[in-house]
Amino acid sequence: MFRKRSYGAVMAGILLVLVLMLMIFGSRLFTDVEEMTQVEKDNRIVVGVSQLGSESGFRTANTESVQNAFTKENGYFLVYNNARQRQENQLKAIRSFISQRVDYIIFSPVVETGWDTVLQEAKEAEIPVILMDRSVDVEDESLYVTCVGSNFEEEGEKAGHWLEQELRKRGDAQESVNIVVLAGTEGSSSQLGRTVGFDSVAREHANWNILEQKCAEFTSTKGKEVMRGFLNKYPSIDVVVSQNDDMTFGAIEAIRESGRTVGVDGDIMIISFDAVEGALEMVAEGTINVDIECNPNQGEYLLRVIDMLEAGESVEKQYYVEEDVFTMENVTQEVLDERSY
Ligand code: AHR
Repeated sequence: MFRKRSYGAVMAGILLVLVLMLMIFGSRLFTDVEEMTQVEKDNRIVVGVSQLGSESGFRTANTESVQNAFTKENGYFLVYNNARQRQENQLKAIRSFISQRVDYIIFSPVVETGWDTVLQEAKEAEIPVILMDRSVDVEDESLYVTCVGSNFEEEGEKAGHWLEQELRKRGDAQESVNIVVLAGTEGSSSQLGRTVGFDSVAREHANWNILEQKCAEFTSTKGKEVMRGFLNKYPSIDVVVSQNDDMTFGAIEAIRESGRTVGVDGDIMIISFDAVEGALEMVAEGTINVDIECNPNQGEYLLRVIDMLEAGESVEKQYYVEEDVFTMENVTQEVLDERSY
């Protein structure tokens, strides 16, 4: 008797939980569809954004910039998806934007290759695709309308030219220089471009030895791990080229833990990319020697591009955002105060 009643109570409990879950998650599942119907009534422009992940300070700022741009007040309805660094998730998100018949697809491709088929599907559905931050390597360039992002190759060259000048200033231009490179996500535009750019300058200097370049996935944890490996393997490292600030933070921890020092007065020079606020503070105090800016504020640029497309105007195939190079000399208090990311 007791057993039977308790079984019934358990079943009733399970049923109640199931009903509650259906009420909560079921309504969330249909939110987009319902809101999109509302959107059509509201006459807003529907934009599907597939962000590649949230691996870095740059990425968080990039996402905020997009979310602040595509607002209801600006006449937009944003369908946002975070792919958590997986291309398959981005493919899924793009296909879902196509089936929802959004007006524009914006996406930041985690890697450059593997997009031809899905972009062809978007083209057949007559949905314009705009690339953000990174680019794609596709056979048919008409598969996307335009790309708003950074000139990564130029960023890499800037890093190389800074090192050239710094060594000249120190009177070390002819000495042998041992360099290690912490690389970002393998096959991403930022990793590829920065590598090509820096290498093109390095090739001109027979005394620059790139001991090793290894992927640390643009994250602080991996940056620390890979840097530890470099420090164990190479007794003499003069320069670390770290392809983003997050990896730099991890690398600096590893270097300090090994008993070595970094920066302007240290044993190892640090060249970083992104120039997020925390890194600029380290530039100002001399911990990071130079930071090559990668500007995440791309939302406003994207708005302008869509305005032009809506007006029937033609757009360029590539728009580069403005970017600077920061050293101790130009990171003023004003620069730090104005930094929003
Ligand atoms: O594609 C831009 C790069 O991606 C940034 O440098 C890095 O921080 C990010 O994860």
